[in-house]
Amino acid sequence: MSNSSSTKRTTARNPHHLLAVSDLSTDEIVELLDLTDTFVEVGKRQIPKVPALRGRTVVSLFFEDSTRTRLSFETAAKRLSADTMSFAVSSSSVNKGESVRDTIETIEAMGIDAVVVRHRSSGVPVQISRWTDAAVINAGDGWHQHPTQALLDAYTVRSHLGSLEGRHIAIIGDVRHSRVARSDIEIFTALGAKVTLVAPPTLLPFTTESWDVEVTHDLDSVLGDIDVCYLLRMQRERMDEALVPSMREYSADYGVTMRRAAKMRPETLIMHPGPMNRGIEIASEVAELPNAVITEQVANGVAVRMAVLFMLLGSGRHLSNGQPDVAQGTDDMLDDEASDSDGGSQAGNELDTKGGQR
Ligand code: NCD
Repeated sequence: MSNSSSTKRTTARNPHHLLAVSDLSTDEIVELLDLTDTFVEVGKRQIPKVPALRGRTVVSLFFEDSTRTRLSFETAAKRLSADTMSFAVSSSSVNKGESVRDTIETIEAMGIDAVVVRHRSSGVPVQISRWTDAAVINAGDGWHQHPTQALLDAYTVRSHLGSLEGRHIAIIGDVRHSRVARSDIEIFTALGAKVTLVAPPTLLPFTTESWDVEVTHDLDSVLGDIDVCYLLRMQRERMDEALVPSMREYSADYGVTMRRAAKMRPETLIMHPGPMNRGIEIASEVAELPNAVITEQVANGVAVRMAVLFMLLGSGRHLSNGQPDVAQGTDDMLDDEASDSDGGSQAGNELDTKGGQR
């Protein structure tokens, strides 16, 4: 990880893109989470749409399979009235041998403002950011980073617990192959949580020294003490060797069953980034418990991604140049799509609260 979580995190490293959690200062993380509240409110409107990014084009470029992340970004862009283009690798010229660079240059020639990239190799979004003037948002690269997942996870925890400060979060399972774990460790610790990684030695990275975390191999020893039980998917597609004796043995030691759920406090949040392997890292009944907030994570993902797109492309883009801060909620900045009858002449980069309530 490029930025140790114990590093004091005050300034953004990369103002134009969102490639890693370390691109955000702690203050910017908090601002994005505050801004997400606004977009959660927009999502509850009868017509959950604002004209904020009218005239902007957002492309999703997914070189790896995805359901929720791709749909979530596309929904977020549409709710901000951006035009969206979706690039399906399986039916593209990539299959004829076109390089990522040529693909980017082709898409850029059509005029785009943001590219949302997922790739199985770590570092591809960073590479792409060197080849395009568009804002690049990392939607997951290899084992490396998944910053919007981290933001939606932090938002979900914050919406239930008020703050992450002093909270104890266990991240359980396949940490080694998980970009979600790497991003979540950074955001959770930046916001003041204590993080314990729970995994067999073979599913931990070679070293965890640069992370401000505790590590245990004994799940049962932490269950009674945690505020959040964050389960990772067993990433079998990323394992090229037998890292656990068998899935059955893994589940016996690290799967969250009803018996284990009963050892947690009833209010302990149960989270999972999806897609879940029911019966492996999580029992089906556990995923249905009232304190399991897995579908809430998905719902919050849309609002978080609206906040990110708005920050990078809209008039809230103080990540790049210190322009107006929407999180302050200036009176004239909100409008909903339905009441916006000027046919698009109004500056599309604004959120306006007027008429937002129904
Ligand atoms: C994660 C991913 O793809 O990194 N899923 C997601 O984005 N919701 C986690 C995973 O695949 O295990």
